[in-house]
Amino acid sequence: MLTKIYNIKYLVTYDDDRNDVVIQTPKNIIIKDDKIDSVNFKDIDYEVDYEINANNALLSPGFIDSHTHLIFASNRADDFSKRISGQSYIDIANSGGGIKSSINSFRKTSKEEILKDCEKKIPFFLKNGTTTIEVKSGYGLSLEDELKSLNIIKELNEKFDVDLVSTFMGAHDFPPEIKDKNSYVDLICNEMIPEVSSKNLAEFCDVFCEQGYFDIEQTLKISQCAHDYNLKMKLHADEFNDSGAAFIAGEIKAVSADHLMQANESGLRNMSKNNVIATILPGTTLFLGMRTYANARKMIDLGCDVAVASDYNPGSNTIYSIPSVMALATLYCGLTINEVFKAVTFNAAKALNRSHVLGMIKEDYIADILFWDINSISEIPYWFNADRITSVIKNGKLVFQNEIN
Ligand code: NIG
Ligand code: FE
Repeated sequence: MLTKIYNIKYLVTYDDDRNDVVIQTPKNIIIKDDKIDSVNFKDIDYEVDYEINANNALLSPGFIDSHTHLIFASNRADDFSKRISGQSYIDIANSGGGIKSSINSFRKTSKEEILKDCEKKIPFFLKNGTTTIEVKSGYGLSLEDELKSLNIIKELNEKFDVDLVSTFMGAHDFPPEIKDKNSYVDLICNEMIPEVSSKNLAEFCDVFCEQGYFDIEQTLKISQCAHDYNLKMKLHADEFNDSGAAFIAGEIKAVSADHLMQANESGLRNMSKNNVIATILPGTTLFLGMRTYANARKMIDLGCDVAVASDYNPGSNTIYSIPSVMALATLYCGLTINEVFKAVTFNAAKALNRSHVLGMIKEDYIADILFWDINSISEIPYWFNADRITSVIKNGKLVFQNEIN
């Protein structure tokens, strides 16, 4: 099927040939099935099946949220109340709240119920411009419950236009029934990873490498196993303490290291040297009531490619809006408008190993396109919310139209 988009004010995209964000004024864009066939600067008459009047909108690539924990059963508003009365994330985790309480409820809730609840969330991401979402397991922490989580991701992916990219995160915490931490690492390596890989349920493997969670040795062991089973690595690195996780991300050549609020310079240098994407999650810093935003300016100055993602999860951050986290990244992490735009499109695609098909509006790329009632991309973080999005095209199909616009 051929679709033509016309009456375009501007097309704004990162351009890998020019290594910059570019503003173009094409006459039309032709989409063939799910891909961009051509971006045309002359008004040639094309025979098409379907025409979309952009109504003078600014067009951008769909956003890619490269870090979420979307699959959970119950909310943790109690944690939030404790936090605003002075307890820290770690205090709450140590007193039975935190990830452990999410594990409890996840295990007790049926797959069908969780699936139904998650189905309600995906359209909210889409309305906020997110057309691809990385989703982690990690609230099951037994073989059976981790498979339950990954199967929910698979079913959601089949059901929705938004594409979900699956990450196995059995190493999110230690389950309560485990007495010896290393025996849980063995369970991950000997049972979970082989099963997840043989069932083709995940593309990435992630580890919470942090004081009180998985140490460097355990992280290296899991990473080696993931590698043996063809899962690519991501790390939750140096979120609350500098435990040298950024450096390790470089050593294991992880695709990305995420959080990095406390990462040290030699770790960031090693990430840069090994092409590890530095993913910052400023929504989490805000939601935890902290002030230690990741220093993305320094990461870029050291040569890292920076991605920005939401980290949507029930505990440390419920913000899923990419325009909102873009605002935080510019206000508090030192990114310019062009850098933050690249961070949620092209670099986020890199963090999911998809920059050859996602993250730009360009010939042969997947046609994921946002239509905006704005004059320049600085208005994306400026308006903070995503209500300036008038329509969304996903895989070449018009999947959302804002009735108000
Ligand atoms: O990325 N840091 C570890 N994992 C999540 C928090 C998950 C939770 O608290 O449930 C994060 O912030
Ligand atoms: Fe996370």
